[in-house]
Amino acid sequence: MSDKATLEINGEKYEFPLITGSENEVAIDVKALRGATGGVITIDPGYKNTGSCESAITFLDGEKGILRYRGYSIEELAEKADFLEVAYLLIFGELPNQEELDKFHEDIKSHAIVDDDIKKILDAFPKSAHPMGVLASLTSALTAFNPTSVDVNSDEDMYNAIVRILGKFPVLVAWAMRKKHGLPLDYGDNSLGYVENVLKMMFKNPTSDYEQNPILVNALDKLLILHADHEQNCSTSTVRITGSSHAGLFVSLAAGISALWGPLHGGANQAVLEMLEAIREDGGDTKKYMAKAKDKSDPFRLMGFGHRVYKNFDPRAKIIKVAADEVLGDLGVEDPILDIAKGLEKEALEDQYFVDRKLYPNVDFYSGIIYRAMGIPTEMFTVMFALGRLPGWIAQWREMRLRKEPIGRPRQLYTGETYRPFKSIDKR
Ligand code: ACO
Repeated sequence: MSDKATLEINGEKYEFPLITGSENEVAIDVKALRGATGGVITIDPGYKNTGSCESAITFLDGEKGILRYRGYSIEELAEKADFLEVAYLLIFGELPNQEELDKFHEDIKSHAIVDDDIKKILDAFPKSAHPMGVLASLTSALTAFNPTSVDVNSDEDMYNAIVRILGKFPVLVAWAMRKKHGLPLDYGDNSLGYVENVLKMMFKNPTSDYEQNPILVNALDKLLILHADHEQNCSTSTVRITGSSHAGLFVSLAAGISALWGPLHGGANQAVLEMLEAIREDGGDTKKYMAKAKDKSDPFRLMGFGHRVYKNFDPRAKIIKVAADEVLGDLGVEDPILDIAKGLEKEALEDQYFVDRKLYPNVDFYSGIIYRAMGIPTEMFTVMFALGRLPGWIAQWREMRLRKEPIGRPRQLYTGETYRPFKSIDKR
């Protein structure tokens, strides 16, 4: 294959280098396009054909259902590693040895309190506030309480900022939920593992001890690993582009949280449960909703089915389905919503419409089911996604800063009015 792409504009030929990634993906390097052509740009709304960066963090092949973090398959990581090891791997590039992992965890724990004044900000929110809005605001507010800027040329500074946010973020996650439920805003328990501590902070009742359930710990650990990175998705691109102006880590993360909130991105897991609730309220007739999903004159879609990138299967969904079965079995959950979910899953997997279009349950379908069975309120589902995605956002922000990427500033094709003289108000 040639190592150049040729572009012809008005009879004039321009050559651009081809760049090949480590998995043989090919990109046309158009960095010189505008200068060489005297102003011609590419246009690609939604960036479906545009690589915004080179990255060594996550590899994804949607056709083959492959997802790897730093070269390790998601299947092996979910089975053999825990969330903190995966966080370290994503951020620093290698799996930690025991000493590195212990130090990482100790350093995170040393930052596991937030300034108590953050509670005053939380108090100002109405109970009805969506926890994603609360989480974005509090993450941003952390900047005010930890104002030292990160010198990205100092490994120590960078490391300290990273362990600081990994320590404080679970507290904010737990508080966003507890505030809504009128529960006291406690801190965690540093004798516990990262995930156990998250569960205890969220669910501890003031009048009794919290008992860990290893099945739930394992399921949450896996869910967080599966959500930890997904290359240049909407929220990750937001974190990178925000950080590219040299805005700090915490506010870049707050921007990512806002981007994740939407129902087309992280908000889909909430949408799945809302759909299941709506089906139950309408009598629980799954066949009716299967028919609606297939009816082209009906805008209804089965939430939690299909994926923009994965067209054969979502490798994350395969793993999490096993955990979902385990959790439901272990907890002996009897819940009409979960029965509807199982019914829909079975019908869709056997239905020709879904088989022909390669529409399979995605990770959001099963994550919603597990979260529901764990007793996590629907509005918190996207917050749990953010907790899982945190290491990915940090890793991508760090990579962007270390590579000294330029400020993200896309061009546009202007389609508005050409010059016109000002019209005075009496003539409009
Ligand atoms: N229910 C019914 N039909 C569907 C569904 C669905 N969930 N998803 C796709 N289809 C159909 C489309 O109508 C289309 O049919 P046609 O070929 O007869 O016109 C065909 O399948 C292809 O669909 P597209 O919309 O072209 O697929 P696209 O890749 O653009 O969309 C998407 C992917 C947005 C995820 C879509 O499948 C969908 O809306 N799913 C439900 C929402 C959801 O679960 N989102 C979460 C994604 S996972 C994540 O973000 C972490």
